[in-house]
Amino acid sequence: MLSLTSEEKAWLAGAAGPALQRAMEIVVALGQIYGAQRLVEVSSVQISGVSYRNIGAAGLRFVQRWADEGARVRVPTTLNPAAMDLEAWAELGFAPTFAAQQQAVIAAFARMGVNGGHPVPTCTPYLVGNLPSPGEHVAWAESSAVSYANSVLGARTNREGGPGAIAAALTGRTAAYGLHLDEQRRASLLVKVRAAPREVADYSALGALVGKVAGPRVVALTGLALTRGEPLWEEKLKALGAAMAATGAVALYHVAGVTPEALETLPLTATPERLTVDDWQAGYATLSDTEAPPDLVWIGCPHASLAEIAQVAAWLEGRTLRCPLWMTCARPVLEAARAAGYEATIRAAGGRLLGDACVAIAPVRDLGFKVVATSSAKGAYYLRNLARVAVRFAPLEACLRLAL
Ligand code: F3S
Repeated sequence: MLSLTSEEKAWLAGAAGPALQRAMEIVVALGQIYGAQRLVEVSSVQISGVSYRNIGAAGLRFVQRWADEGARVRVPTTLNPAAMDLEAWAELGFAPTFAAQQQAVIAAFARMGVNGGHPVPTCTPYLVGNLPSPGEHVAWAESSAVSYANSVLGARTNREGGPGAIAAALTGRTAAYGLHLDEQRRASLLVKVRAAPREVADYSALGALVGKVAGPRVVALTGLALTRGEPLWEEKLKALGAAMAATGAVALYHVAGVTPEALETLPLTATPERLTVDDWQAGYATLSDTEAPPDLVWIGCPHASLAEIAQVAAWLEGRTLRCPLWMTCARPVLEAARAAGYEATIRAAGGRLLGDACVAIAPVRDLGFKVVATSSAKGAYYLRNLARVAVRFAPLEACLRLAL
């Protein structure tokens, strides 16, 4: 039986207007479906369903209706990536009609007060200042961000759907079930990795394999040669979690001695299933469709950190690319890369840094791309299943070489 505070009951009765009433109805319905006893206050929300290519005209009307009714977010709220760079779309080849529709989605969220009225679309809100503390309740929607919030930051969130996240943003509440509860955060799949992955993309390949077996379970991993604070350790976890969330539906994982809830002991259920991974490199093959040369190379899934951009810029210095290379990141990260000179280096080689955008949810085929190479398992998974192009999933340097 879901119990509500007097304030929550008043909102549900419509005392604060129709938008908040509808948002409360969604939060309460989700709580009842999942058997929650109460609601919890959330300190931030991350909303998915932003790409016009995904949500279409019906989704745009859905968001605009909230905005027209005066709905305003009650807690700090950020947006998932859009289908294009909101500033450079024309020079990248996006059609004006599509761009106007995508801008309309962003404008509706801006009217609702997302990012203080200036949306910053990204799947890595934690790289642009939204860093919840361990134990803090949030309501995030994007699967890789959910994984990172739960696993690397130790915050607590379920994988919210689009309407559920909007409702959480308007009410500042979510139902207390699933990963908001201590007992649901124990791993029921214990994975022993025999040969440790090395670079960021290798963690993505490992995650692709483990996610397939794990499905929606909480996973614990041992055998990774990874220490907190080493170069790119957070990027490796970002890649690992994104891949497991894509090929499975893993929303929380623990790495022995690294992630906050596994620093001393691994939180396990009484009888976890055990899995040994000897050959994580096989993960690359599971998400590769072709040996054909790519007509686009895409790096930055999840959105790249400044360190990842620096790594690519260093490799491209003095080289010239044969085919387009797009590296996606949050706009504030792009601006930092511009200030550091990395963007100029990437451009001089023939590549582009894209802000705001995710290539997997872009109209990739309409842009003329048929074969895309990427160093991300999640990117490969969605390029194959959403964008419907042929994919080459390979380590970072191999992808960059393919672009030469
Ligand atoms: Fe982000 Fe798109 Fe990858 S949302 S995690 S860049 S598939």
